[in-house]
Amino acid sequence: MQNENLRLYFVTGNKSKFNEVSKIFQTQKVKFTLQQLNLETIEIQADNINDVALFKLNSVKDKINSSFFIEDSGFFVDKPLKGFPGVYSSYVFKSIGDEGILRLIDDFEGSRAHFSAVIALYFKPLDKILIFEGEVRGKVSDKIKGKGGFGFDPIFIPDLIPNKTFSELSPQEKNEISHRGQAIRKLISFLKRNF
Ligand code: IMP
Repeated sequence: MQNENLRLYFVTGNKSKFNEVSKIFQTQKVKFTLQQLNLETIEIQADNINDVALFKLNSVKDKINSSFFIEDSGFFVDKPLKGFPGVYSSYVFKSIGDEGILRLIDDFEGSRAHFSAVIALYFKPLDKILIFEGEVRGKVSDKIKGKGGFGFDPIFIPDLIPNKTFSELSPQEKNEISHRGQAIRKLISFLKRNF
């Protein structure tokens, strides 16, 4: 029987997010067994993703008898859209998509954008909630490019690899620099220090 203390759930309905995260777990030799748990969480409309993440975590905490984490992320076009879509990323992606964002921008060379991720972990052995964050900066591509990834990946060009969108990177390359990759590596360092 599996030791319940070594089970870790990632509560998400987003298979792409889960695949990215599990690839990092596989390469980092973590003792914990990661499993996707597709449970309905409550997403509040707040003006920062930390509040959204904490609320999401607490909305399912009583239903799970193991350590688990949730992730909340967003795409922020700082210039010229003053941070839009940000906390509305999921809704905006479903409604106007990548094409809709491109139609709102005229100066692509002068654009600035970033992705942010917040992971909220409930760590059962210590009965504690912890937060891990990641952020990646770049600009908006003037056209949709690449086939990989999901969401706004085809229109985001990271500063660290300035000639490619996230969709043109391999999953490993994206994980090395992405907001989610950074946050997950912080979570894994915590697990390694505490177990
Ligand atoms: P949520 O975290 O499920 O609320 O969704 C955030 C939304 O931001 C997603 O639906 C995507 O549209 C977008 N997003 C978050 N992370 C990424 C990413 O790594 N690539 C592309 N889009 C992302």
